[in-house]
Amino acid sequence: ALQAGEIARAATTLDALREAMADFDGCSLKRTARQLVFGDGAPDARIMFVGEAPGAEEDRIGRPFVGRSGQLLDRMLAAIGLDRSQVYIANTVPWRPPGNRTPTPQESAICRPFIERQIALVNPDVLVCLGGPSAQALLGVREGILRLRGRWSTYNVGDAGIRALPTLHPAYLLRSPLQKRLAWRDFRAIRAALDESAAS
Ligand code: URA
Repeated sequence: ALQAGEIARAATTLDALREAMADFDGCSLKRTARQLVFGDGAPDARIMFVGEAPGAEEDRIGRPFVGRSGQLLDRMLAAIGLDRSQVYIANTVPWRPPGNRTPTPQESAICRPFIERQIALVNPDVLVCLGGPSAQALLGVREGILRLRGRWSTYNVGDAGIRALPTLHPAYLLRSPLQKRLAWRDFRAIRAALDESAAS
C-alpha cells in the first residue's frame, strides 16, 4: 500500500488530495470514523487554522469546526473581521478519534503528510495552530500550549516560510472562559500580521 507521503505528494490540487485521502486505508482512525473530514474554506485563503481532530458533530456532517468549538471559533474570527469564506480550516488528522481522544503519536505521524500538503496547497500568509497537539504536530515542538501560545514561529514549506502562531483551542476556552483574554491577545496579533502581509 502507498504511504501517505507518496499519496500527498502526488496530489497537485485540494480536490485531488481529498479524493486520495478518502481512498487511503493506512490510518486506523478511518475504521471507527463515519467519514473523512477534509479541510474547508477558501482554497486561496491568506489565513489557515489547523485544529486537532474532528469531533462528533464534524464526523456526522463531514466538515471541520461545525460543533460548539466551531461556533466559538466563528465568533473569534468575527472579532477580527473575518468569516469562514475568508479562511481555510483543517485538522491534524481528518478522521474522528474514538470518544474524541487525542490522536496517538502514531496516528498523528501517519496523517501528517496530508495536513502538510493541504498547508502547501493553500499556501497562506499566516498559519494558526489551535491547541497543543496541532502546534506539536506542525511545528515539531514539545512544550504545552500555555507556553507556546502567542509566540510566532516559522512553518517551512520547501524554501518558503509561513508565519505560524499557536493559540488556545476553542474547546479549551469553552472549559476555561477566563483564558479568553489570552486568545484575544493572539487574535489581535493575527489581525496585525494579516494587515502587515497585505501591506507588503
Ligand atoms: N475540534 C477540533 O480540533 N477540530 C474540529 O474540527 C472540531 C473540534
